[in-house]
Amino acid sequence: MSLKSSTPEAIQSLVHRITQAANNLATVNGSLQFESESARRELVAAAEQLLLAVRSPEENIFSIAQQPAQNAALRCAIALGVPDALPANGDSCSLDDLSRTLKAEKTLLSRILRACVATSTLSEPSELCYAHNAVSRTLLSSANRALLTLMYDYNGRAIIALPEFLQARKWQDAGSYRDCSFMLGSHTALPMWEYRDKDERCRETFDLGMESEIVAALSVGKAIGSFPFGRELVPIPSVTDNNKQHGLQEELTIVDLGGGHGQALQDIRADHPELLAARFVLMDVEAVILDAITAGLPAWMETVAGSFFEPLPAPIRGAQVYYLRRCLHNWDDAACGILLRNVAAAMDAVQSRLLITDMVIDNTNAVKEMAWEDLNMMTIGGIERTERHWRCLLGDCGFRIHKIWRQTPTEHATIDARLK
Ligand SMILES: C[S@@+](CC[C@H](N)C(=O)[O-])C[C@H]1O[C@@H](n2cnc3c(N)ncnc32)[C@H](O)[C@@H]1O
Repeated sequence: MSLKSSTPEAIQSLVHRITQAANNLATVNGSLQFESESARRELVAAAEQLLLAVRSPEENIFSIAQQPAQNAALRCAIALGVPDALPANGDSCSLDDLSRTLKAEKTLLSRILRACVATSTLSEPSELCYAHNAVSRTLLSSANRALLTLMYDYNGRAIIALPEFLQARKWQDAGSYRDCSFMLGSHTALPMWEYRDKDERCRETFDLGMESEIVAALSVGKAIGSFPFGRELVPIPSVTDNNKQHGLQEELTIVDLGGGHGQALQDIRADHPELLAARFVLMDVEAVILDAITAGLPAWMETVAGSFFEPLPAPIRGAQVYYLRRCLHNWDDAACGILLRNVAAAMDAVQSRLLITDMVIDNTNAVKEMAWEDLNMMTIGGIERTERHWRCLLGDCGFRIHKIWRQTPTEHATIDARLK
C-alpha cells in the first residue's frame, strides 16, 4: 500500500508555481529581491506544500514530532557559545579547536554540532570542521540569542506543559493569567509577568529578546510599520483653553504603555523628525524601567514606573497618544478590560487616541504562525484576537475603532481607537 496521499499532477502543479515565482527573482547588491512580500510568501507557501506533498504522511507527522530535538541542538549551541567561537569571516574551525575554546568534551560537542548542521543552522565544509552560514550569523546578535533562549527556556517549557495542563482541566477552558501552563512548565506559583519581574535572568533575557532583529524581521517589531505617525500626528493639535480645562497635555505627548526598553519610541522618533518637539514617555513596571535606565535611555525620553492595571498617574493623563504595542495579546479579556478602562479614564474625549499594535488574525484559515503564536499566548493566559474579537473587546471598554492600519500581507496591524 502506498503511503503517499499526493498525485503526480499535484506535485507538477506545485513545481510549476515555484518555477513561475523563481522566474521573477532578481539579485540587488548581493541580496535576493522579490517583486513584493506577497510574491515571497507565495513562493514559501508553494515550497512548503511541495515538501508536504512529496513526503509521506508518516514523514510529515514525524518531522513535526521531532522538532524539540532541533530546538535543543540550537539551544545547546547558544549556551555553549558556538556562534562567537566560530571565525566571523566565514573561515572554518576544527572540532579540536572548538572543543578547547568552549571547554566541551569533543564527542559530545560533535554530536550537538552535527544536529545543528543537519538543520542548516551551521555549515560543515569538511569533516569535523565547522563554519558560519547565513543562519548561524543571526546568532552573532546577543538580542537574537536572547529571543531564542526565551523561546526555549520559558515559552518552550510552557508549551510542552500545555497538553497536560489542559487535560487536567478536562479541556473546558484555556486557563487564565493566574492559572496557566507557564506555571506548570516553570514549576512556579507565579504567573509569567510576576515570575519575570522577580527573576533577574528571565527579565534580562526577555527585555533583550524583545530588541531582537528576528522580531523586527518578522515585522512585529517595527513600531511605525503600518501607522503613519508623522502624517497622522502633525500638525500638533492646538491647545485651547477648553482643552486645558479638560487636562489635555500642552505638547504632543506619546505615552508608550508597557514600552519595555523604549525601542518603539526610539523608532518612532528616528523615523519622524517632524515629531522631535513631542514628549515621549516610556511607561512600564518599575523593574523594567530601572533596567532600561541602567541600559541607557536617551535624554529626551521620559519614564514613568507603574502598572497599567492601576489608574494612570497625573504626568501621563490627557496625552494625545497612548500606545500599546504587543501588550494586549498577553492578557485575557478580563485583564485587558481593566487596562483599557484605565487608559480610557486618562484620555481626553476629543483629542486623545489609543494606538494598539498587535495581530489581527483572519477569521478563517489563519496562517500557522498566528495559530502557534496564539497557543504561546494561551500558556500565559493571553490570546491573539480576530478583528471581530477586537471590536467586541474595545467596544465593551468604551472605545470605537476609528481605523485599522494593516501591515499587509502580514497579520500585524495598528488599531486606531477613540473614545465613543
Ligand atoms: C511583550 S512586551 C512588549 C514590550 C514593548 N511594548 C515592545 O513592543 O517591545 C510586554 C510589556 O508589558 C510590560 N508589562 C507587563 N505587565 C505590566 C504592567 N502591569 N504595567 C505596565 N507594563 C507591564 C512588560 O514589562 C513588557 O515590557
